[in-house]
Amino acid sequence: MTDDASFVSWFRQSAPYIRQHRGRTVVVVFGGEVFRSPGLPDLAADVALLHGLGVRVVLVAGSRPQIEKRLAERKVPSRTVEGIRITDERALVAAKEAAGSNRVELERLLSMGLPGSSMAGARVRVAAGNFVIARPFGVLDGVDYGYTGRVRRIDADAIKQRLDDGSVVILTPLGYSVTGECFNLSTPELAAETAVALGADKLVSLIEGSRGVTDGRGRLHTELTPEGAEAILRSKKRYAGDVRAHLASAVHAVRGGVRRAHLVDRRAEGALLRELFTRDGIGTLVTSELYEGVRDARLRDVPSLLRILEPLEEAGILVHRSRELLEEDIGRFVVVERDGLVLGCAALYAFPADKTGELACLAVSHEFRESGRGEVLVSAIEKRARAAGLEKLVVLTTQSTHFFRERGFVPARPKDLPPSRKRWDRRRKSKVLVKVL
Ligand SMILES: CC(C)(COP(=O)(O)OP(=O)(O)OC[C@H]1O[C@@H](n2cnc3c(N)ncnc32)[C@H](O)[C@@H]1OP(=O)(O)O)[C@@H](O)C(=O)NCCC(=O)NCCS
Repeated sequence: MTDDASFVSWFRQSAPYIRQHRGRTVVVVFGGEVFRSPGLPDLAADVALLHGLGVRVVLVAGSRPQIEKRLAERKVPSRTVEGIRITDERALVAAKEAAGSNRVELERLLSMGLPGSSMAGARVRVAAGNFVIARPFGVLDGVDYGYTGRVRRIDADAIKQRLDDGSVVILTPLGYSVTGECFNLSTPELAAETAVALGADKLVSLIEGSRGVTDGRGRLHTELTPEGAEAILRSKKRYAGDVRAHLASAVHAVRGGVRRAHLVDRRAEGALLRELFTRDGIGTLVTSELYEGVRDARLRDVPSLLRILEPLEEAGILVHRSRELLEEDIGRFVVVERDGLVLGCAALYAFPADKTGELACLAVSHEFRESGRGEVLVSAIEKRARAAGLEKLVVLTTQSTHFFRERGFVPARPKDLPPSRKRWDRRRKSKVLVKVL
């Protein structure tokens, strides 16, 4: 493909994501290392681009290296216990200076707009303020943490107002108490609490020194459920930098209602854009929603499948499948489950000779519909089909054409069905739809 053609194809592929993210709230958190990196202007330009695309952006900027530097220059010992800083008066002064100077740096970069630069005409408004109410971390196991604090409350209404005004909101890891004190906070914790308080759609953590969360053999976990992430946090595996802290925050955020939390290598070129605007992203995604409870079906699920499918078969919506056929085909099915109860299912019939798969038998129990489970099942089947090297997915439906059209399927004709599949049933007159994977 020529560069022009690949640009056009790339741009078209990002279109669904552009629409998806418009008006959504994304909290982006990064460590103070960013401020020492040559990639900082690009990050600012990417934030400006997100903002330009209608994403409501909150930035949470850490400042640990800047605090450390100041303490070292002043010959003040830096003290941490179990990774938590003990903030005395002098460390608090350093924390305030570092946070202030980093905030100004971001404001400066987001104000740029020279013609010819990627920031041309960006005109990003920035808002910062006393959005975070903190309380002291206190004394733990005989250690007094001084001005180290925890988030007590986020003034979500005030932040939302600024976002409504079209501003990018900047938070630094400082919070204020009703007693008039200032506290030094953990950046990942602040980001997670903010994302939860805002009901954000995403928390994106730009992490240091790792491409995401990896397993014992160094392979990237591309997706984790909160349970899977917690199992990793319980293990003794060591991770670079702040990966553990960000993973814990991701779990906290997702459990608090944030739809997706991503951990992405800050140094990867265009990390933020690639995670948000490409299909597979590049880092680790923590979510309870997407593949929540979706798993391969097992033989013992057959009674549940019969319970879900029979009423739809009786109503003529789905083709009848006997218990024997379900048992035989069980390997083709995925189910969505909650608390041990199977709520829905879908199957993939592959026609490898035609590089095509058929999405079949998609059904969600009546009382559990309209909560995204149908969508989750379609995504799971698409993922399976892609993993099997298939290039197209077809579906036959009598009642749900629009459901599929809204999910990227386009109308096709019976003769577009894979030749190796059995013939289209003339009496049923199902509509045929196809999606290129
Ligand atoms: C199609 C089906 C699986 C969707 O399950 P679900 O869990 O409700 O789906 P989701 O929650 O992901 O999506 C709900 C959205 O799809 C829409 N939708 C659901 N069924 C639809 C249909 N038959 N036609 C058009 N839109 C439909 C809903 O209105 C809702 O839209 P909204 O978000 O704009 O309000 C479910 O309705 C079902 O089991 N239908 C009967 C079986 C069937 O027709 N299967 C397809 C043939 S293989």
